[in-house]
Amino acid sequence: MTDLRWGILSTARINDALLAADAADFVAVASRSLPRAVAYAREKGIPQAYGTYDALLADPGIDAVYLSLPNHLHVPWAIRALEAGKHVLCEKPLSRRADEVVEAFDVAQAAGLVLAEGFMWRHHPQVGRALDLLAAGAVGRLGLIRARFSGPVALPGDPRLDRVMDGGALMDVGCYCVSGARTLAGAEPEQVAAMRVVGGANVDVILTGLLRFPGDVLAAIDCGFALTSQYGLEAVGDEGSLRLLDPWHARSPVIEVAREGEPVERIEVERVNHYALQLRDFAQAVADGRAPLVGREDAVAQARAIEALYGAAEAPA
Ligand SMILES: NC(=O)c1ccc[n+]([C@@H]2O[C@H](COP(=O)([O-])OP(=O)(O)OC[C@H]3O[C@@H](n4cnc5c(N)ncnc54)[C@H](OP(=O)(O)O)[C@@H]3O)[C@@H](O)[C@H]2O)c1
Repeated sequence: MTDLRWGILSTARINDALLAADAADFVAVASRSLPRAVAYAREKGIPQAYGTYDALLADPGIDAVYLSLPNHLHVPWAIRALEAGKHVLCEKPLSRRADEVVEAFDVAQAAGLVLAEGFMWRHHPQVGRALDLLAAGAVGRLGLIRARFSGPVALPGDPRLDRVMDGGALMDVGCYCVSGARTLAGAEPEQVAAMRVVGGANVDVILTGLLRFPGDVLAAIDCGFALTSQYGLEAVGDEGSLRLLDPWHARSPVIEVAREGEPVERIEVERVNHYALQLRDFAQAVADGRAPLVGREDAVAQARAIEALYGAAEAPA
């Protein structure tokens, strides 16, 4: 595996999860403010600090960039980083506009660089285990998927509450539900419907969506900032159901399988750091010249689904 030297674009809170994973060599951080970058680098034990994102991208000692900027800056800075010759792991969601995601992957492909969307949840072994159970017929014929992710966000000025910064509950947490539904269905939605409640600075603070997948599989998703914390991903078939109790954070990776007339089976999956697995998958993709787990095909389909859901939710009644 290549020993990638990573730079971080921004001093975002989420960086802590990647740093704590202890699975990559973070050699530099950039902030809009040099004093903030210097203080952050000192606190986190990162050797180099830059006072602009461009300065970090100009450093020839950096191979890959972890991009944890607010959502509206994901694609513009991913493209700048790729044009500077860096591989890019960009935080979810890459964009709510599928054409932007296509453009970013076109740039990556032309430059022979890896671009991945940071959906860490996909890297946890409980996902593979759930897919294996479904393939083995644990629920019979799959007919319905339910996915939910919500938690209170109310602080004024938070980028997640700002439409201009591509905030919104679907962008922040609902994107996991979309990814979850697509992953369990093993397909892309043919049709969607959605409704939202607007709050903050013109963002969806509650959103529910319906997705129809090929083979008569439906999914119902819900997400919100104006709701208490909830997590879940469930597949329901004609013979049983399967639930991942903690699908996104995977701190307690448990799958429950309930089959008609039988006691609920509780499957404890090994506890592993999915951020570490994400970083290792990325490094392996660079080393092998293969696509990362959440690469072009997945990220473009994901953005298409989000774009369609917003189109439905924002359409005049
Ligand atoms: N995968 C996960 O588990 C996970 C979890 C949480 C969040 N995320 C994603 O990670 C990204 C960052 O989320 P976060 O909550 O960690 O971010 P955050 O704490 O709000 O930080 C965002 C950073 O972006 C920089 N920035 C640049 N322009 C900005 C602007 N106009 N307004 C505000 N900040 C600006 C700032 O760093 P400087 O001032 O230092 O440049 C800021 O610290 C989001 O896309 C989110 O969806 C992923």
